[in-house]
Amino acid sequence: MPKKIRLGILGGGGDSLIGVLHRVASFINDNYEIVGAVFNPDHEQSLEFAREIDIPTNRIYKDFDTLVEEELKLPEDERIEVCSVLTPNFLHFPMAKKLLENGFHVICEKPMTMNYEEAKDLQEVHANSGKVFALTHTYTGYPMVRQMREMIKAGALGKIHKVDARYYQGWINEVIHDKEKRSTVWRLDPKKAGISSCIGDIGVHASNLIEYTTGLKIKSVLCDFNYLYDDNLMDVDGTVLVRMDKHVKGVVRASQVATGEENGLAIAIYGEKGAFRWEQEKPNFLYKMSDSEPLQVYKPGHAYNSELSLNASKIPAGHPEGIFDSMANIYLGAARAIRGETYNDGEFPTMQDGVRGMNFIESTVASHKQGNVWIDLD
Ligand SMILES: NC(=O)c1ccc[n+]([C@@H]2O[C@H](COP(=O)([O-])OP(=O)(O)OC[C@H]3O[C@@H](n4cnc5c(N)ncnc54)[C@H](O)[C@@H]3O)[C@@H](O)[C@H]2O)c1
Repeated sequence: MPKKIRLGILGGGGDSLIGVLHRVASFINDNYEIVGAVFNPDHEQSLEFAREIDIPTNRIYKDFDTLVEEELKLPEDERIEVCSVLTPNFLHFPMAKKLLENGFHVICEKPMTMNYEEAKDLQEVHANSGKVFALTHTYTGYPMVRQMREMIKAGALGKIHKVDARYYQGWINEVIHDKEKRSTVWRLDPKKAGISSCIGDIGVHASNLIEYTTGLKIKSVLCDFNYLYDDNLMDVDGTVLVRMDKHVKGVVRASQVATGEENGLAIAIYGEKGAFRWEQEKPNFLYKMSDSEPLQVYKPGHAYNSELSLNASKIPAGHPEGIFDSMANIYLGAARAIRGETYNDGEFPTMQDGVRGMNFIESTVASHKQGNVWIDLD
């Protein structure tokens, strides 16, 4: 077994949503060891959390700049090799940029940056760095999403005609209808979240998934947002018509006010020979539909699956794996890249996905603001 990769964590403190997913995911395939962190902007809270989860406190730094400065003083074989950026959105760009410029690999949460310009800037920095950059579009790590990608690539659907990606949540209902609450959440503050809430937070997962599974690029969008209240500056619901390569058309539907919905991400791809449907809340079932044959259900871990899909399962078929495993698969792909091993380009989302995601988000906002017009992506 090669030595564990030394991992630093930025954000993801005990008070966070996503921190535990990354910590567990980094642990699952025995590739990483957390050696340093800034879990919170408050140093005392960071230290307290490190003690709580039993990580040595000598490399829990008071802030990000200190982490970089102090780590660079350490011999290379002790220094953090890769940092996971799990902070609110506005810190992704400055942190990822400085990390790449100083020779660290980066695993970064989405949306990659605050806007498209920052994304292109980061892409250039990355291109000159020679370092690995992985973007955690978590859902691409599921075995059945990977299976869909590989089967579509092999021609299972023939020519694709229609895509439909839906990401419905209801969590913002609790805050959006209360004037005071909606002014205190970072996800509804453009200075911290960026130009979009709903599309930036979840719509971008859906757009990434349709590009990931079909291999086609979104070329233009027409979008209609709902903000619900005049004093709310951020979209909480959005419907986006998309035109993709090869005359494929479809829709990305995203909402944070879909009452009663939990993490309702579902995608369907319809082609001349058949269709695939996959739902995140039942991730171990991939439905293959046809006009002329009975419904087929693909499941993880069976030999009929592709190598990319099988690599994403760890235990025999019938033992459900879920969101932690899906994120772990992205960490596994990133570990292979960091170690200089060969890997399939479907094993983790890249800088290119991040740039496209920001291009998508910015284009949806432009479309809505210009009166629901078609906007071309680059
Ligand atoms: N991949 C996914 O499916 C997924 C799911 C949820 C969130 N996210 C993304 O993860 C990121 C974090 O989201 P969250 O829901 O965990 O947010 P959160 O508000 O729950 O947690 C943010 C964490 O960052 C810490 N933090 C804030 N400023 C910091 C600083 N200057 N230095 C160090 N730590 C700092 C906070 O103390 C907190 O621990 C966001 O970009 C979000 O879009 C991705």
